[in-house]
Amino acid sequence: MNSRNEHLERWVSEVAELCQPAEIVWCDGSPAEYERLSQLMVDAGTYVRLNEDHKPNSFLCRSDPGDVARVEDQTFICSVNKSDAGPTNNWADPDAMRSQLGRLFAGSTQGRTMYVIPYSMGPIGSDIARIGVEISDSPYVVCNMHIMARVGSAVLDVLGDSPDFVRGLHSVGYPLPDGTPDVPWPCDAENKFICHFPESREIMSYGSGYGGNALLGKKCHALRIASVQARDEGWLAEHMLILKLTSPAGEVKYVAAAFPSACGKTNLAMMNPSIEGWKVETIGDDIAWMKYGPDGQLYAINPEAGFFGVAPGTNDCSNPNAMKSLSANSIFTNVAMTPDGDVWWEEMTDDSPDQLVDWHGNDWTPDSDVKAAHPNARFTAPASQCPVIADEWENAAGVPISAILFGGRRAKTIPLVMEAFDWEHGTFLGATMSSAKTAAAAGTVGEVRRDPMAMLPFCGYHMADYFDHWLQTGAREGADLPRVFYVNWFRKTDDGCFLWPGFGENSRVLKWIFERCDGTAAAVETPIGRMPAPGALDVAGLSLSEADLAELLRVDEAGWQEELPLIEAHFEKFGDRLPEALRAQLAALRERLQSTAVTVG
Ligand code: OXD
Ligand code: MN
Repeated sequence: MNSRNEHLERWVSEVAELCQPAEIVWCDGSPAEYERLSQLMVDAGTYVRLNEDHKPNSFLCRSDPGDVARVEDQTFICSVNKSDAGPTNNWADPDAMRSQLGRLFAGSTQGRTMYVIPYSMGPIGSDIARIGVEISDSPYVVCNMHIMARVGSAVLDVLGDSPDFVRGLHSVGYPLPDGTPDVPWPCDAENKFICHFPESREIMSYGSGYGGNALLGKKCHALRIASVQARDEGWLAEHMLILKLTSPAGEVKYVAAAFPSACGKTNLAMMNPSIEGWKVETIGDDIAWMKYGPDGQLYAINPEAGFFGVAPGTNDCSNPNAMKSLSANSIFTNVAMTPDGDVWWEEMTDDSPDQLVDWHGNDWTPDSDVKAAHPNARFTAPASQCPVIADEWENAAGVPISAILFGGRRAKTIPLVMEAFDWEHGTFLGATMSSAKTAAAAGTVGEVRRDPMAMLPFCGYHMADYFDHWLQTGAREGADLPRVFYVNWFRKTDDGCFLWPGFGENSRVLKWIFERCDGTAAAVETPIGRMPAPGALDVAGLSLSEADLAELLRVDEAGWQEELPLIEAHFEKFGDRLPEALRAQLAALRERLQSTAVTVG
């Protein structure tokens, strides 16, 4: 195939010289290519074809146990100046890292095929979309990219002869010299490097074949590199779902929401509302790129074309629309398999099947003392298969955002919902977001960490400059800004039970948010933000005691007093680079908490 792009051709030749593949395949993105590579992986023992009666055209894949999640400690921002990576990223000197990677990539693709994957993040040709090319030696990556992005020849047509594409080089780091036999999941588990060169818009990923480490369009491009591009060009690249909310009167608002990984984003993005007449439809479940439109509103696109969702916990109650999205044409990684060739994972059904093959490939019964699926097991499913995908999900111009939500998993202190006083306060809420750690990244599950705007692992530059970019974005002349809210579905009682039922009932909170944007719902002004006035949150028909509701909406003054030094310590990490406006927000919060008067707004 001739790409007609000399910059791309030259780069591919250079990479081939370094990595020494047995052959080069230019991916056309066709269904025939998908089928051919899927069969190749079945034949190699990487894939198991699932039973057509249960999951048509779908595959199970078991990774190496040493390659099951994003590796944040091996993820690097290789900016020219160390100070541009900031205190929340691992920095590596770009020249030193290039040399080190050069040694690792040398010959890394021996005996393998090198795939050239042109992709568009966002609808092909949209002004907000961006093009990248991933070179990978993994057919698993090619097939996942087929689902997660728009891939192939049509992308090259739009690229033409432009040099303006993100270059992503990926190798599983398992060369096959002189006929060395392959393994089902090749990787270099002890030697992973996920490196970003923000100035030159390059990504180099070595050693892992899993998810965000290897599908470079997702976290590496659409967040780490795009966040830098967005700062330079005046837009926002965010770790946010996008949903469409329609009221019983047929009025529509679009909401973007940032939550750390595995905090129910996919569930919220495609929920079935419990309240009569309200409708939620999905635009995206993980990433939003937002740009100002001519009317001063922020317009968002979902740069992805599929869902790479956490499987455990997904079921017909928690997320029936995800279950339908993954009912065919999907890839399942590290889930368990039933004797009749279907998939299973923890909480998919009330009772587990009597017999399974677990994610390691071992026989499993309910008496086994290990989980059948890995906690970070994933499904890769086409977004177009979601029963509640919005008609406009591929609108090139995006959708206008009325509200931005921040949230995390906090058992205490943070109320069910509050609204920021204004954009600057909203930026403060986002900048101080915190959550208990989940299994989406390697590390200690349960530990509370500050995760500003859910971008802690994904911001490609200094986090304090990112906060400043948010403030600048809001200060734009003529901006018709979204309102900002902070939600917490995860409050617990002292004995560890959830106070709020969550899932479809979260629509009650969305309704209040919708009505706040419309100016029709009442709020109480409190020291921490605006909260639903008594009776303003629709809890009709919900079995929630008055006491629990009061607890969910209480300003926990003692808890907030404990929070203040934690926020201060978090801010201290950024030193002088922290925007003064955020320091002022913290001082104002402290002051408001001291004068506890509550007035109706
Ligand atoms: C994801 C993540 O996979 O945030 O979306 O880890
Ligand atoms: Mn995510």
